[in-house]
Formats: sequence, structure tokens, C-alpha cells
Amino acid sequence: MTRKAGVIGMGHVGSTVAYYMVTSGLVDDLVLIDSNELKVNADATDYQDAMANLNYHTNVTVNDYSALADADVVVSAVGKIDLQEDNEKHDRFVELPFTKHAVYEVAAKLKEVGFNGVLIDITNPCDVITSLYHEFTGLPYNQVLGTGTLLDSSRMRRAVAAELEVDPRSISGYNLGEHGNSQFTAWSTVRVLGEPVAEVAAKRGLDLAKLDEDARAGGYTVYHGKHYTNYGVASAAVRLAATVLSDAHTELPVSNYHEEYGTYLSYPAIVGRQGVVEKAHLSLTADEETKLQQSAYYIKTRYEDTLAELTNQQPNRISNTSLS
Ligand code: LAC
Repeated sequence: MTRKAGVIGMGHVGSTVAYYMVTSGLVDDLVLIDSNELKVNADATDYQDAMANLNYHTNVTVNDYSALADADVVVSAVGKIDLQEDNEKHDRFVELPFTKHAVYEVAAKLKEVGFNGVLIDITNPCDVITSLYHEFTGLPYNQVLGTGTLLDSSRMRRAVAAELEVDPRSISGYNLGEHGNSQFTAWSTVRVLGEPVAEVAAKRGLDLAKLDEDARAGGYTVYHGKHYTNYGVASAAVRLAATVLSDAHTELPVSNYHEEYGTYLSYPAIVGRQGVVEKAHLSLTADEETKLQQSAYYIKTRYEDTLAELTNQQPNRISNTSLS
């Protein structure tokens, strides 16, 4: 059985996702889509130039939406990172004025060709855009996911690992909520060296609040050095795509729909061929539960406002005074 993936948006992030797929032999067929014909064709040729020196062959197709009709996975990497320039707020919502219209168009095209695989959204603001993709593609909730805090959890693991001089893969645990400023590290889920991290932190003098901030600000730390981020998020997206393609049923903290909170947000789910196969249930502390509800409310209200604006309607707000 052949494996087919699409990458929509071939900027810094999309071209890194596609390169990783080509070099790892993850798929047999790869469809690249971008409005900049010159750039996407140049990337395709560059990947083909690499192929004689790689261990895998990938068939590359350019700018053909109809080729996505039978794709197993499509990754949305549409964005306009230039909008972050001079953005003092360090807020991914600065891209929304561009991305909300772009994903509306992309979703309509995916729907038109009958795409029925798993859609993985990287496009920011991730949770709001993932919600819009669900709305405008008409795909079931389980088939529309965002990379969400799979990246932020990886940043947290990097930060904790550096303090303890261990491999980030020796740290387990999650950042939850928004892939944005209202996220938080759920320290009750984090374990290292066979113990809950709180116990290790007490013994080794780790400042968990500082590490939480390190993870949250991780994207901006990289952004300030090179004016975009790509490797961290591309690795998260390709790991997620690989999990779907191999029907691995792996627990990953990705942006997925939670009825309880009425929104997409990052919370661990079991991911397989159908996207979300099952949801995990964490035993969070009361403080973490409050933080998650606040993050959920923030995403939900921003999504409702954006949807109302795109469809020229009033937001259908369910009041939540305790969280506003
Ligand atoms: C980041 C972008 C993908 O955090 O939001 O690197």
C-alpha cells in the first residue's frame, strides 16, 4: 500500500516538513502546494536533486489539489511569519488576519477534491486555525488535529533535560492548553529519573516556574535568532504524520477537540490511522485544571469571534463569567 502526504504552504516550515519526509522515506507520494509557483517548483527540483544520494524514492507532485483526494495525511504549514516583525506582544495571533482567510480557501479546496484523510495543522494561531479547519472542511473532529503543545512539551523536556544533564527523551510529561501564551506545563504529569519532577526539583534545586517560562517562550527565543522557527515544529508535525500513517496508537499532546471544554486544545490523545482514536484522562491538580479551563476559554472565545467575522454573524458566546 502506498503512503501519500501533502504539504500546503512551502515556506520555512512547510519546506522543512517536506524535506524531512523525503529524507526519511516516510511517504511514497508527496504533494506540495504553494501559491508561489517558482518557490514550490524550486523546492521540488531541489528534493529531486537529493534523491540519487538518499536511501528512499519519493514521487513529488506540485500544485495539484486533485492529487490530495486520496492523501492519507495533509500538513497545513500556511503562514506569514513576517507579521511577527516588530510584534512586542509575542503573540501568535498576529498571523491570524492572514491565516484565517488562507485556511478558509485551503479548506474549501480540500473539501472540493474530497480529501478524507487526517489533516495536521501547524498554521498559527494553531488551536483557532485547527478549529476553523474542522469547521470549513466538514471533516469529523478526530480527523483534524493541530501540532499544538507537542512542540511546547518538547521544549519543556529540552529545558528540564538540560538542567539534569539527561536526554530530553528521558523526561516524560506535558504542556497543555493553547500553543500560545496561555499554555502551561502540567508538572503533575512530568516524571524523570523514576520520580515525579517535583521531588527531583526539590532535591536538585530546579526552578519549575522558570522552566515553564522557558518552554512557553521557546518559540520566541528561536524566532529572535533567525526570524522564523522550523526544525522543532517540523519534527513535531512529521512525528504526528508518522504516527497516523503507521496507525501507531501513540499518546501525544496534540490539539484535539474536547467537548468538555467546547474547544480544540492540546491534551494527550491516542493517535492512529483515523487521527484521534481515544482521549487520555489526566489527574491534574486543581490549579492545573483552572489553568486549562482558562486556556480553553481564551481559545474558544477567539475562535468564536473569528468564525463570526468570517461568516458575518454575531459570536454565539456561551457565557463563562468565572473564567473571563
Ligand atoms: C513555534 C511556532 C511553530 O512555536 O509557533 O515554533
